[in-house]
Amino acid sequence: MMTKREEFFNWIVYQIYPRSFYDTNGDGIGDLNGIKEKIPHLKSLGINAVWLCPCYKSPNNDNGYDVSDYRDIMEDFGTFSDWKRLQKALKKDGIKLIMDLVFNHTSSQHKWFQEAKTSQSSPYHEYYIWRKNPPNDWKSVFGGSAWAYNESTDEYYLHSFDETQPDLNWENPKVRQEAAKIVDFWVKLGVDGFRCDVLDFISKDFKKDKMFQGPRLHEYIRELFDRDGVRDIFTVGECQADKKNTLLLCGKNRGELKTAFQFDHINLGRIDKYLPRPFSFDEIKSVLVKWQKFSQKHDLIYPLFTDNHDQPYYISRLGNDKAHRYACATAYATTFYLLRGVPFLYQGQEYGAANPYYTKIEDFRDVETKRYYAEQKKSKPRHQLMQEINYASRDNSRRPFAWTKDERTNFGFSAATPWIPCNSRAKEINLEKDLESERSVFRYFQTLLAFRKGSLAIRQGSFQDRTKRRRGCFLYERKWKRERLLIVCNFDKKQKIKLPKNRKFLFGNYPEAKEEFLPFQAAVYEL
Ligand code: GLC
Ligand code: CA
Repeated sequence: MMTKREEFFNWIVYQIYPRSFYDTNGDGIGDLNGIKEKIPHLKSLGINAVWLCPCYKSPNNDNGYDVSDYRDIMEDFGTFSDWKRLQKALKKDGIKLIMDLVFNHTSSQHKWFQEAKTSQSSPYHEYYIWRKNPPNDWKSVFGGSAWAYNESTDEYYLHSFDETQPDLNWENPKVRQEAAKIVDFWVKLGVDGFRCDVLDFISKDFKKDKMFQGPRLHEYIRELFDRDGVRDIFTVGECQADKKNTLLLCGKNRGELKTAFQFDHINLGRIDKYLPRPFSFDEIKSVLVKWQKFSQKHDLIYPLFTDNHDQPYYISRLGNDKAHRYACATAYATTFYLLRGVPFLYQGQEYGAANPYYTKIEDFRDVETKRYYAEQKKSKPRHQLMQEINYASRDNSRRPFAWTKDERTNFGFSAATPWIPCNSRAKEINLEKDLESERSVFRYFQTLLAFRKGSLAIRQGSFQDRTKRRRGCFLYERKWKRERLLIVCNFDKKQKIKLPKNRKFLFGNYPEAKEEFLPFQAAVYEL
C-alpha cells in the first residue's frame, strides 16, 4: 500500500491561468465554463491535477491575487455553481483540483480592509499592519515604498505588493483563525490541495532588510495546516527557500507543507528581473542535481517546473524559441519531468508557446509592468525600456491560449476582443498548427507523461547524476528495483555523447541518435 504522501508522486499538475485559457460567453475573458469545456484536452495531454490560479471575487488589480471575498467566485469567471460544476466534472475524470490561497494580503476592496481603514477602533483595524510612521524603508515587490498613507487614521499600512494589496497582520490570532476557516471551507467542498501564494511573507521582522521569512513563519503554517481533516491535503508553497528552510517547510514530519516551489533554476541567466546575463546550461544542471540529491536524501517532494504565470517562457529566456523551438521545448520537458518529484506544467507549454514582442506599453496589462514603465520612462530610452519589458514582463505567459489557427476568433480563444492582446506569434505558434506538424510538441508531451505514469522508476525510483565531463549535456539515471532508465539531454551544439553499451532506446524528441546528439536532442533509454 502506498502512503498518502507517496501517492503525490503520481500527480502531474497542470496550472491554469483562467483569464487566458478559454472564453465561453463572449466577453473576451477566459472563464470556469471554458475550463470545463477543455477537460478533454487536459485528459488527452495526460495530466491528473489542475492548479487553478485565483478565481475568487476580486477587483483584479493583480488579476485575482487581490481577493475581496475568499468564499465567492469572480464574476468575470462565472458563478459559484459554475465552480461546483467544474469541480464535479474534473472529479469525474479523475483530475484533482488545487486552489490558490492568497493569504499574505487581501484586496483593499475586501470588507475587512474597508472597515479597518476607517478607524483605529474598528474590530478589523488589527487585521492589517499599521504604523504611525514607516519603521523601515522596505520596497514593495512591484516598486515604490511598501508603506502607504491612510488619511482617515493618519497612519501607514504595509503592502508588500501593490498598494491595493494590504498585508494581513498574522500576529493577530483572529487573522489566523479566519485563514483556517477559509481553508476548512474549501476542504469541506472537496478540493484536493492548495498552492499558497507568497507564503513565506506572512511572518515579518521589521528590523530586517528582507520582508519575508520572519521568526514565526513555521508556527503559522503549522497552525494553518497541521490540523485534523487538513493534515493530509496537498500543499505547495511559493517560497524562496534555501536548503535549511526547505527542510523546515517541507520536512516529512514537520506538519507544514508537502512541497515548496523554489526558484534557483528560474533565477539563472539574469542579473535582475530585467537584465539578462550570459549563462550556460550547466548552471541549470548543477541546480537540478543539487536539489535532486538533497530532496532524495531527505525524502522530500520536489516540484518540477520551468514555467508559470509570473515568468517569461523558459524556452525563450534560457533556450531557443526560434530555430529549435520544438526541440528546446521537448528537451526541457524531458529533462525536468522525468526527475524525482511532482511535475507542474503551465498552460501553453504543451504546444511550445513562446514569448511575444510588442512595441507599445498599451499592449501590456500587468500592474507590475505598468508600474515599472511609469517609473523608468523618464530615465531610459524608450526602445531600451520596451526591450526590458518584453524580456521580463509577466504578461509574456499571460496571453490567451492559442487553440487554433483562426485569427478571427483570436486563435480559438474568444470571438470578442480578448482582455489582453493575443500572443504576437500566435499565427506561427498555436495548438492546431502544432498538431498538424510532424514534430508536435503536444504529441511528445503525451508520450512523455504517459511514460512517466507507467514507470515506477520515474515515480518512485532513485536519482543519480551520470553526466561525465562533457559540457552542455545532462545524463541521469532513475532506478527502481530492476527497472533502470537513462535520460540523456543535449543542450549544446551537435556533439558525441558516450553511452553505456547495453542500452535500449525507448523514445526521444528525435529518432535515435547514431553517433552524435543534435542540439536539444533528448532521449530515454532502458539499461
Ligand atoms: C505571487 C503570485 C503573483 C502575485 C503575487 C502577489 O508571486 O504568483 O502573480 O502578483 O504573488 O500576490
Ligand atoms: Ca468569459
